Amino acid sequence: MLAKKMIKVFDGGLLSIPPPNTVWKGKVNMVSVAIMGHGVVGSGVAEILLTHKQKLFSNLGEEIYIKKILDLREFPDSPIADRFTKDFEEIVNDLEIRVVVEVMGGLNPAYDFVKRCLKAGKSVVTSNKELVAAHGAELLAIAKEENVNFMFEASVGGGIPIIRPMNQCLVANNVSEVAGILNGTTNFILTKMIEEGMQFEDALKLAQDLGFAERNPAADIEGHDACRKICILASLAYGKHVYPESVHTEGITKITLDDVNLAEAFGYVIKLIGKVKKLEGGKIDIITAPMLVPFKSQLSNIDNEFNGIMVRGDCTGDVVFYGKGAGKLPTASAVVADIVDCCKHLKARRFLFWADGDGKNIIDYRESVSAMFVRVTGDGALDKAESVFGEVNSVADGDMTALITPEMPYGVFEEKCTALEADGVKVLSAIRVGDI
Ligand code: HSE
Repeated sequence: MLAKKMIKVFDGGLLSIPPPNTVWKGKVNMVSVAIMGHGVVGSGVAEILLTHKQKLFSNLGEEIYIKKILDLREFPDSPIADRFTKDFEEIVNDLEIRVVVEVMGGLNPAYDFVKRCLKAGKSVVTSNKELVAAHGAELLAIAKEENVNFMFEASVGGGIPIIRPMNQCLVANNVSEVAGILNGTTNFILTKMIEEGMQFEDALKLAQDLGFAERNPAADIEGHDACRKICILASLAYGKHVYPESVHTEGITKITLDDVNLAEAFGYVIKLIGKVKKLEGGKIDIITAPMLVPFKSQLSNIDNEFNGIMVRGDCTGDVVFYGKGAGKLPTASAVVADIVDCCKHLKARRFLFWADGDGKNIIDYRESVSAMFVRVTGDGALDKAESVFGEVNSVADGDMTALITPEMPYGVFEEKCTALEADGVKVLSAIRVGDI
């Protein structure tokens, strides 16, 4: 017993079986971790581990020691500059490193590195939603096989706890729907357009300067980032991997100040929404798209880089999670929470799992039913629209008319728009009205 508690410290690592000639320094317990990536999130993780050392020690009862940081760049001014490496092999082959944090982003080489770390018996924590959305089922299966943990709280909602609450606190519920504002950059852009009449490009530039945007902001503004996040939540909620390729995705690049202003006239704000709903019969309806959100919805008040996620459980009713969905320290906070959880469970797996999926449980987006906000122009546009859609609510603005159609499957809506355009009406925009 004594031997187990007397931990040898020779460079901050933890070994339960001390090698010969050990110099004992007393009962100092440490867990060695490595961080792969020293960008916005990675530097935030290192910062929290260093500045909150005592706070974390009092929770964990052990010190979290950053043994290595992997990055191709030099950081000579870092207080732990001597622990940087450019060589992944130094991490994967280091038996003392028990938890590896992947915050490099992108699929390559993150996928290969994470797989190798798991197979080497190390727990892995990642903030990389692209990785989890593309390979989550496989990586969870490897973690299960190796009896280690693969955790990704920071991959959805930045600093908002959502993976752990859904996986643990809401486990008693059948979840009928998850809907959320899952991308800070686009929410920031839309908020600036709505509140300040700012142009799209200026707002995007500001979001990039503030460090919210992805390395390639197309992933934000084209909806792919939000899509990856709703895929992760859908996989977790329904137990089968949902791949982003199976999900109809639209971004916010076509949203104009006219859309924003006319939506407001109807009592709505425009938000980029990721949404998954379980239908009768068991299939799911999943989409990422800009939607009109009614002022009365809790999601309508979630502004700037904040995210909000509504989970509808059959026992709880609606539960809403709110907080900063992007940014250095909020995201790093979620990563560090996973590191602590992994350190507490070095020898036992936390249950977090879903099976692989084949997409057969997802309906075609053309079958998905919603009302539509449509902005049209042309002679007699309103009368012609009513003859196609039936009676509609409408607002006129100069030579434009905005209207809200009755609910219909999206495929039917597309056919009606084609008929309307054949009748000489130009459809300037079409945005789903969110039932949220
Ligand atoms: N680019 C992402 C966002 C970062 O704006 O939400 C957090 O995932």
